[in-house]
Amino acid sequence: MERKFKRIGVLTSGGDAPGMNAAVRSVVRTALQNCVEVMGIQGGYRGLIENDMKLLGPHDVSNIINEGGTFLYTDRCLEFKEEAGMQKALKVAAENKIDGLVCIGGDGTFRGAQDMSRRGLPCIGVTGTIDNDVSSSDYTVGFDTAMNTVIEMVDRLRDTCESHARCNVVEVMGRDAGYIAVNTAIATGATGCAVKEIPFDEAAVLEKIKLAKTYKKRNFIIIVSEGMGGEFGEALAKKIEAETGVETKFARLAHVQRGGRPTLRDRVAASRMGAHAVELLLEGKSNLIVTETDGVISEKDIEWALMYDRVYKGKAKPEEIAKLDPKVYEEMVALAKIKRDKFVELYELGNSISI
Ligand code: F6P
Repeated sequence: MERKFKRIGVLTSGGDAPGMNAAVRSVVRTALQNCVEVMGIQGGYRGLIENDMKLLGPHDVSNIINEGGTFLYTDRCLEFKEEAGMQKALKVAAENKIDGLVCIGGDGTFRGAQDMSRRGLPCIGVTGTIDNDVSSSDYTVGFDTAMNTVIEMVDRLRDTCESHARCNVVEVMGRDAGYIAVNTAIATGATGCAVKEIPFDEAAVLEKIKLAKTYKKRNFIIIVSEGMGGEFGEALAKKIEAETGVETKFARLAHVQRGGRPTLRDRVAASRMGAHAVELLLEGKSNLIVTETDGVISEKDIEWALMYDRVYKGKAKPEEIAKLDPKVYEEMVALAKIKRDKFVELYELGNSISI
C-alpha cells in the first residue's frame, strides 16, 4: 500500500493527565517506525494556531514515560472554537506539511478533532483525562494515577482522624462525573459517598456515623465528587459535626490529583492507545477516538461518541435525537443503561460494605 502520510502532528489539550507523556512517546515511536515524521505541537490547539511546534526524534521522547504532566504543554484554547481560529490552525498545519493529527485529551479535545477532520485534516483522538468521563470508553488515560493519589491522601487523613476521633469530608475531582469518587470511596472504605449521578441519602450517612460511634469507631471518611458543587462538601462537614457530635474537617484535594508519575495502568493504556491512533491514521482513517472496551483497544467514530456521551449524560436535545436513526438511538440508550447500572452497582457496593 502506498504510504499517504509523511508527517503527522501530536498535541495534548485540556486538563493534563498522568500518562499523556507515555501516549506521546508511543505516538512518536510508532510513527517513526513507519517512516513517518512527528511534529510535537506545544500548548494544545493554541500551538497549532501560533505555529509553536518542533519535529520530534526518537530520543526526544526518551525518559518521559514515567513523567507526570505533559511535556508538550496544554491549554484550553477559546480561539480554536471560532471558525477563524480553526482556519488559522488548518493553514499552519498545511504550511508545516502535517498530514494528520493525534489529539490527546477529553471531550473538548475530541470536538476540536472532529472540527478539523470535517475540514479535511484527518484526526484521531486518544483519551487523556483523570475524570474517566469519555462515555464511549471504559477507560481514560490518567484515571488510575489520579485515584491512587486520592487513596494515598485519604489514607493519610484516616491516620489523623483515627488519632483524634474525627471525620474528614474529602472532595475529589471528576468534573460532573463521579467515577473517581465512587471508586476511591470503595478503596478507602469511606462511610459515605456523594456523587451528582445518584441522589445522596444524607440521613442514612448521619445514622451510619451515629451507630458506628456506639461501636467505638473513631475515624470516618466521606468522599464527595466536585460535581456536587463547590459548597456541598464544606456544608456537609458542618452538618455531620452538628448532628453526630464527631468533629469534622473538610479537604479539597484539587489539582494534586492531576500530577505525579503515571501508574503502570496508565503507562500501558497510554502506550496501547497512542500506537493504535497512529495505526488508524496510517490506514487512512479519520474522525475516530481510540477507546478501551472490556480491555480491548479499538475505536469509535467521534460523531457517534460525542452523541452517545450526550445520551449517557442526559444532555441530548430532542431535535438531535430526532435526527438519529432510531436503531442507533436505541442502541445508545441500551449501552448507556448498562454503563449506568455498572456505576450504580459500584456505588451500592461501597455503601453496603462500609460502616
Ligand atoms: O478535567 C480534568 C479536571 O481536573 C476536572 O476534574 C476539573 O473539574 C477540571 O479539570 C479543573 O480544571 P482547571 O485545571 O482548569 O482548574
